[in-house]
Amino acid sequence: MVTVMIILENVGKTFKDDTQSGLVEAVRDVSLKIEKGEVYGIIGFSGAGKSTLVRCINLLERPTTGKVFVNGSELTAFSEPELRKARKKIGMIFQQFNLFTSRTAAQNVAYPLKYSGMTKAGIAGRVKELLGLVGLEDKESAYPSQLSGGQKQRVAIARALANDPGILLCDEATSSLDPQTTLSILKLLKELNSKLGITIVVITHEMHVVKEICSRVAVMENGAVVEEGDVFSVFANPKQKITRDFIDTTSNLSKIHALIAERSPIVKLKPGECIIKLKYQEKDISEALVSMISRKFNIDANIIFGDIEFLGGSPIGGLILIVNGARSDIDGAIAFLRNKNVGVEVILDAR
Ligand SMILES: Nc1ncnc2c1ncn2[C@@H]1O[C@H](COP(=O)(O)OP(=O)(O)OP(=O)(O)O)[C@@H](O)[C@H]1O
Ligand SMILES: [Mg+2]
Repeated sequence: MVTVMIILENVGKTFKDDTQSGLVEAVRDVSLKIEKGEVYGIIGFSGAGKSTLVRCINLLERPTTGKVFVNGSELTAFSEPELRKARKKIGMIFQQFNLFTSRTAAQNVAYPLKYSGMTKAGIAGRVKELLGLVGLEDKESAYPSQLSGGQKQRVAIARALANDPGILLCDEATSSLDPQTTLSILKLLKELNSKLGITIVVITHEMHVVKEICSRVAVMENGAVVEEGDVFSVFANPKQKITRDFIDTTSNLSKIHALIAERSPIVKLKPGECIIKLKYQEKDISEALVSMISRKFNIDANIIFGDIEFLGGSPIGGLILIVNGARSDIDGAIAFLRNKNVGVEVILDAR
């Protein structure tokens, strides 16, 4: 059974702008449902309103309009004490880790348990368990300055999990880490998601973060969610220009246009040749399509470059090919591919 964990209903947040006269509409009329146990991504460029939106989930920022429901209760209707209690069940981590520099890893993790009513020994045990969960059992006495960025984020994750929250909000949690450390933190989040069943909301401006761990994604622009859905559908068939821009940040397929513009020898066509782009946009493509078209239609297909990744076990991305053959054969091959639900775009035609 699918249970909804977070509901945002027409949430808006307007700030008074100190620098200019007027108001900043940081979040505009956002409605979203996030299911229990899923890893949900919110992607957008800087200033899109992602941090403001995620802070509206735990009411660190009180929405100007709209309602927020978490685990069946309306947070926007809670009193301050009720809210404080509810927030304990919503962990949060940040780009800059926000650790107490004068406290050890263990003391940082113990901090949220201070007024929990647990005994000293109980807290010590729980801290040990939490540091074990994030792979830092040997760092309990280390101060943040003695830890790497990845280790600091692990301490922050352990601290965020101290009160056994049902939700973990991650605001650019990997944005100041190198690519390898980013992957290790994303892997840890994924593990915690499956081990603890915790619902994770990931805010990012990096496409690969969404690809790596999210099952669904919302794309934000100018405070609004402009596109939303399961990651494969959104990235296989983007409806908005901004979504295509994000895809281009991790794909090399658009390089072809630069190569053509600069008349690179790689894309110099002989008569009869054309450059086509194949786009994999359906989940069930598994056939050896390039060798099939060259056999079936007696054409040569030369792969210039490709960018195919697997999202949820299905190929997504595409190939740039130079094909050479009789016009009727090339047309036949294109029709054949389209019939297999592969997107085909003729980029340059020397026929
Ligand atoms: N406390 C505030 N007072 C006034 N304006 C604010 C405040 N917080 C955010 N804003 C404005 O709201 C808009 C959205 O900001 P927000 O921080 O939510 O964006 P973001 O998508 O998280 O950006 P980034 O990727 O750079 O973190 C921006 O125009 C920002 O200047
Ligand atoms: Mg932000």
